[in-house]
Amino acid sequence: MSAQAKIIDGKAYAAGLRERVETAVAKLKADHGLQPGLAVVLVGEDPASQVYVRNKHKQTLEAGMNSYEHRLDTSVSEGDLLALVEQLNTDPNVHGILVQLPLPDHIDTEKVINAINPDKDVDGFHVINAGRLATGQDALVACTPVGCVLLAKDALGSLSGLDAVIVGRSNIVGKPVAQLLLQESCTVTIAHSRTKDLPQVCRRADLLVAAVGRPEMIKGDWVKPGACVIDVGINRIEGENGKTRLVGDVDFASASEVAGSITPVPGGVGPMTIACLLRSTVLAACAQAGITAPEI
Ligand code: GUN
Repeated sequence: MSAQAKIIDGKAYAAGLRERVETAVAKLKADHGLQPGLAVVLVGEDPASQVYVRNKHKQTLEAGMNSYEHRLDTSVSEGDLLALVEQLNTDPNVHGILVQLPLPDHIDTEKVINAINPDKDVDGFHVINAGRLATGQDALVACTPVGCVLLAKDALGSLSGLDAVIVGRSNIVGKPVAQLLLQESCTVTIAHSRTKDLPQVCRRADLLVAAVGRPEMIKGDWVKPGACVIDVGINRIEGENGKTRLVGDVDFASASEVAGSITPVPGGVGPMTIACLLRSTVLAACAQAGITAPEI
């Protein structure tokens, strides 16, 4: 019988992280009278975005923080959205700002993201934060990449010296994960859909991060025996009897026979994102108040 990988429980890790955030928030209130606040801006009616925003709101309140929701009509002008961002930039009760993506086509996403005060950019999407991360300065870092690295460290301990292969080169996952793993002293390869002999490149990885957005693309025989596999993909595919189901970018059935540890979909990286957002909001609030941030 072949070995079965340890399943990395992102849901449990995220619950523990949210508890640590809640404790940190209570202490900031008691010691400094500081209540971190997160503002989320949602434009339009995209159903998936509405679910995310509702969950963010609920979990922000549960952590003891202030949550400010701004829902704007799909037809809102770019100017009005930029004016709202500017108002949030100067609001002292707002320490984190997140503009939910995607935005409607008539709005320049890059312009809106880069209008956010970088010190309140809890998504870590602002070009200043990308630059700070790349140069090893204190930065707000995108939540999903942080979640990936926390889970990998939880599974493996020190990542120093490991061969890490990231499949996917997006600004919001692939590139920031690569920067974070470089900071952890991994030897980092960013592979992508045009990489020559992708299976062979993946087979080198002690730590394999899949963030390509292609359902079940990475097969068990692409995985080095004993490797840690972090699957960022969330793909809805047609299952049996016409029902849809969620799968990752990794073929879980075959990969879990080979890997040493692996994140499931759902229940792996997904639940980490909001927990990391709450953590980033606390860190941002401390930085803005000139307070040393607690260990979370
Ligand atoms: N839409 C889906 N995920 C995200 C995210 O992490 N941040 C933002 N701003 N929009 C999203």
